[in-house]
Amino acid sequence: MTSHPPLRKQAQAFLEAYYAETGRPGLSDRLAAVEAEIAATATYTHSCEEVEHGARMAWRNSNRCIGRLFWKSLAVVDRRDVSTAEDVHRAMVDHLAMATQGGRIRPTLTVFPALRPDGSVPVRIWNKHLIRYAFHQLPDGKGIGDLAQSEFTNICRRMGWQGEGTPFDILPLLVSMEGAPPRLFELPQESVLEVPISHPEYPWLAEMRLKWHAVPLISDMVLEIGGIRYPAAPFNGWYMVTEVGSRNLGDESRYNLLPVLAERMGLDRDAPSVLWKDRAMVVLNEAVRHSYDKAGVMLTDHHEASEQFMRFMRNEEAAGRPVTADWAWIVPPMSASALTVFHQKFDDAVVSPNFFYADDAWRKPATASRCPFHQTA
Ligand code: ARG
Repeated sequence: MTSHPPLRKQAQAFLEAYYAETGRPGLSDRLAAVEAEIAATATYTHSCEEVEHGARMAWRNSNRCIGRLFWKSLAVVDRRDVSTAEDVHRAMVDHLAMATQGGRIRPTLTVFPALRPDGSVPVRIWNKHLIRYAFHQLPDGKGIGDLAQSEFTNICRRMGWQGEGTPFDILPLLVSMEGAPPRLFELPQESVLEVPISHPEYPWLAEMRLKWHAVPLISDMVLEIGGIRYPAAPFNGWYMVTEVGSRNLGDESRYNLLPVLAERMGLDRDAPSVLWKDRAMVVLNEAVRHSYDKAGVMLTDHHEASEQFMRFMRNEEAAGRPVTADWAWIVPPMSASALTVFHQKFDDAVVSPNFFYADDAWRKPATASRCPFHQTA
């Protein structure tokens, strides 16, 4: 088990930072109240303002995120009051409406109840991303949809879900309360904005009937603020073009479309000089960029994101906060060396508050004492 400083110390470090950064008065009273609450209950309760600022700090400290320039603009919805899986489903439908805004995407986080001192988990969302497309295995060994969702799709299927069998069936939401078995909810189609993919010069691309969803929303990371862990704190930003064009549609272990595009483009895949993967990848990214623009859905590209990250670094240095980052994640998967971030060195230290990975909700921890929320940012 990883050893953490006592909760008291973690609370103190967070509250000191929170009061210093926000310029609020009253730190010593708050510290005394939190000490007393921890002594009496083995935990403490953040104020709404503390959760809001803490969540923004967690984004600011997310070593793998290139989009952190906008950390202060994160909208935080406090839903620590929910008590049923229906409440969580409704809260996520509300989250989608508030975050999507018809395409004017707003970075938003909804926070559900904290982990209890006895380790029990009040709310857990089983989906890794709120919006994802199912994978349907076909008898001939091939499949339709997003291969990365194969395991999760099988769980949904065992619970009676079927989907339509298209390459883009939106998976349902799975929510468990208090360690009970999960419940399954459909996300209303009208809550999920999607973008049909077309290309300004290649009409055949639209005929492939590709699409992707507008809002990237991570739903299985643990938000940690001042030693308090929130196992359900789903959050979203807007997309960077390469996430969809290079990775989701291009990766061999996802939609694996590079060979298909190369074929349509008439590229010779046996001629090493053709660089067919590179050319297909550029066309896919052009298509994604063009399509999101045409649909009025906010999306950044890797060039803009790289410059914004450099601005974030300058801002943070000016505020006296050292920036931590994970190079392999910050550097985008296309045209890397043409981007300023490629030429930087980063310190990958993990700073609190932050977001952490949890084990998949459907996997039991190997031993009872193992912390399911490992601290690898
Ligand atoms: N890459 C993930 C996806 O394709 C989303 C990760 C977060 N990305 C973001 N732009 N906030 O859905």
